[in-house]
Amino acid sequence: MPIQTTANIWHNGQLIPWDKAQIHVMSHVVHYGSSVFEGIRCYAQPTGAAVFRLQEHMQRLIDSAKIYRMPLPYTVDQLSAAVVDVIEANGVAPCYIRPIAFRGYGEVGVNPLKSPVEVYIANFPWGKYVPGNDGADVCVSSWSRLAPNTMPSLAKAGANYMNSQLIRMEAEVNGYSEGIALDVNGYLSEGSGENLFLVRGGVLYTTPLANSVLSGITRGSVITIARQLGIEVVEQALPRELLYICDEAFFTGTAAEVTHLRSVDRILVGDNGKMGPVTTAIHDEFFNVVNGLTPDRYNWLTPVNVKVAETVEA
Ligand SMILES: Cc1ncc(COP(=O)(O)O)c(C=O)c1O
Repeated sequence: MPIQTTANIWHNGQLIPWDKAQIHVMSHVVHYGSSVFEGIRCYAQPTGAAVFRLQEHMQRLIDSAKIYRMPLPYTVDQLSAAVVDVIEANGVAPCYIRPIAFRGYGEVGVNPLKSPVEVYIANFPWGKYVPGNDGADVCVSSWSRLAPNTMPSLAKAGANYMNSQLIRMEAEVNGYSEGIALDVNGYLSEGSGENLFLVRGGVLYTTPLANSVLSGITRGSVITIARQLGIEVVEQALPRELLYICDEAFFTGTAAEVTHLRSVDRILVGDNGKMGPVTTAIHDEFFNVVNGLTPDRYNWLTPVNVKVAETVEA
């Protein structure tokens, strides 16, 4: 999907024109993948627009940078304010927000410590991420997720997405919407850019952080919603074959939101691949909250002052 440009990008504390947000080919990040980033959504509301879990995303950006010894000279509050500034300056909502911090132009060589840290925040319109209006048809990938003690999964680092690219490309060239990767021990891990949930016997299962998953903000939100709805949630290592015998399955993610899975490896999920009752209850509560159709009882939304370009669908 081509990027839809906006007027401004935030760079190290200032708004600059979209076309001026450029880096040198010899920047450290280009050669060694030394970036950490976030993906955040701003939703249309009946009376404007609001960003979903802004502070939590900015905390994760800071955490990712800390793992990579990348000093970010901004607090969660400053980064959150910068996101609001860039959305309001561009006047684009709903939108997707992409903060990124990386090692810029400085030294040659793998050690990044003497290359400067640059922080940018862009926003742009972005719609559905995992195709399939009646549920996604996915496969188990032949690629494993990152092995422990190689690339840290809890850091949302650009370099991790080389693995994600292999998973996603393989899935798409074989006619699937997305791939689910196992961890190096053969347990279920996650999609190339989504966390994984399964339902069996009315219990909601998801893979724990130790199975090489990103600590998804949507994953955390869905766990909270499920508990609020009285659904039992279990985080435990899950065998691959549970995918084929579960009653319901869905992905979560900022881009994927809550996307139900119709089939895995061409085996229908549940009896008919349709969205089941547990997924539906969670899906509806999630979208009611993010679209401002029910009160924000979780305190997850940060309002922004932008005239909304699209109507909100119930
Ligand atoms: C590998 C991976 N797992 C899970 C997720 C879902 O995380 P979140 O809900 O914070 O977007 C993402 C997206 O950021 C991701 O890239």
